[in-house]
Amino acid sequence: MTMMLTGTTPTPLPLDQMKPWNSARQMLVCTSVTDEAPDVKTFTFAVEGGGWFNYMPGQFITVELRAKGGDLHRTYTVSSSPSRPYAIAITIKAQPTSIGTRWMFENVRSGSRVRAYGPSGHFTLSRNPGKKYLFISAGSGITPMMSMLRWLSDCAPDIDVVFINSARRPEEIIFREELELLAKRMPNLSLGFLPEARSVASPWAGLMGRIDRHKLSMLTPDFMGREIFCCGPDPFMRAVSAIVRAEGFDMGHYHQESFGATSIAETVHKQAREIVLDGKPTGVTVSFLGSNEEQVCEPGKTILETARAAGVRIPAACESGICGTCKVLKRSGEVVMHHNGGISDQEINAGYVLACCSRPTTPVEIEA
Ligand code: FES
Repeated sequence: MTMMLTGTTPTPLPLDQMKPWNSARQMLVCTSVTDEAPDVKTFTFAVEGGGWFNYMPGQFITVELRAKGGDLHRTYTVSSSPSRPYAIAITIKAQPTSIGTRWMFENVRSGSRVRAYGPSGHFTLSRNPGKKYLFISAGSGITPMMSMLRWLSDCAPDIDVVFINSARRPEEIIFREELELLAKRMPNLSLGFLPEARSVASPWAGLMGRIDRHKLSMLTPDFMGREIFCCGPDPFMRAVSAIVRAEGFDMGHYHQESFGATSIAETVHKQAREIVLDGKPTGVTVSFLGSNEEQVCEPGKTILETARAAGVRIPAACESGICGTCKVLKRSGEVVMHHNGGISDQEINAGYVLACCSRPTTPVEIEA
């Protein structure tokens, strides 16, 4: 049996009568688009043809954008909770220079079909559980925190959480009303909003300004004893990590969401040079079984680069081994793969590799 879509309104079946979303085979259908704050919208999706969403709070999905000039892939953090598995939501702030956010705002409506991949990512309390949490974010960095808090409110509502969000102005605090409602339901949830500037639209009488040691201590006097999750622009994350590090915080309990593609890309290219200098692969054949294509992989090139040279389409987003979008099944042969968390040990044991950071050392056969 499957979940039937009537227009855009799904009729849910019990979970045990459906399978988890398989992004290799199933599209998503947008069920709603909601305004959250100025230039911020939440896009909620169901599985086309029926299914439920199996993920960890804080993970992200990769969305395929049908932009002019070819498909693009962009990663967006999930803001919904896996405790409500019939739907998945991403919350996006429009960025004037971003093709991806513009495309989403202009093209995705209730009823739109969207191809997406995942969920992926290691920024989740499921991998780093604590007895007490500090969720600290700036701007749209609030989205993974919201997923984790929604999950805790359903599954562990008594847990001790301090939730801090920094925004430019009070009206730009995303999810503010829902957070205030959650604080009434969760007896040990403490909220700390930190706008940087006042505004006529939304008067503010609380603490203001950029995060520093003094404000962090006022909002979380016991931050040294908490599992800390931090997400936001790089300067914000650098400031928070510098504050807690200077206090002697055990950084094994500090986690931040990072898409530091530049340094990772440099590492990947360095590794590529090393492979060439080692003289190991010298033009090995990559067979793309699903496309019935073969292509010689030049020394130091990845499976993704080889696929492109052969005209074989493998979806990719970060191209740095982070997002997991380019995961493919390797049927035979050996590769050197230097990933950055985009693939699990179980997937590697099952034969999967990330095409963007895997370099063949023997002829390989790939399902693509
Ligand atoms: S494209 Fe992101 S892991 Fe390969």
